Amino acid sequence: MKLKFITITTVFALIVTVLSWQGCKKDPKDPECTLPNATLSYNLNIKGIIDQQCLGCHVTGSGVVGAVGDFSTYEGIKPYLDNGKVLDRVVVTKDMPQSGGMSQAQRDSINCWIAAGSPK
Ligand code: HEC
Repeated sequence: MKLKFITITTVFALIVTVLSWQGCKKDPKDPECTLPNATLSYNLNIKGIIDQQCLGCHVTGSGVVGAVGDFSTYEGIKPYLDNGKVLDRVVVTKDMPQSGGMSQAQRDSINCWIAAGSPK
């Protein structure tokens, strides 16, 4: 009888722990924008970063195998914004640009711009 009580109590405590942990867990794929009052647009703030950091590979004729798309225009990078891959590779895993050399400030800008719906 005592053992049964302990088992039930343990299982209950476990469930409560798991539930409360899930409640406050942040989605790692959706990092928060940390720039205060950031209003960023593709033309004014983002294109320059992408031109500098991505076009060595992600452009028609770069010859880099696997570097998908042509990021020289808004329309060219849009599909990869929509499917979440730019956010994933630039902000979450940070393995793009493959060549490295992107500042955290630039990653923050990309993050806030995407969080705002990547306005043109
Ligand atoms: C030095 C070359 C190089 C640079 C610079 C570079 N990339 Fe890439 N990128 C690649 C290659 C090669 C792949 C394919 C292999 C892989 O997925 O890791 C890739 C894959 C990707 C993918 C995944 C596409 C898919 O459909 O799976 C995204 C998104 C991406 N890059 C975004 C970017 C962004 C945004 C930049 C600029 C901030 C950038 N890359 C800069 C070479 C590069």
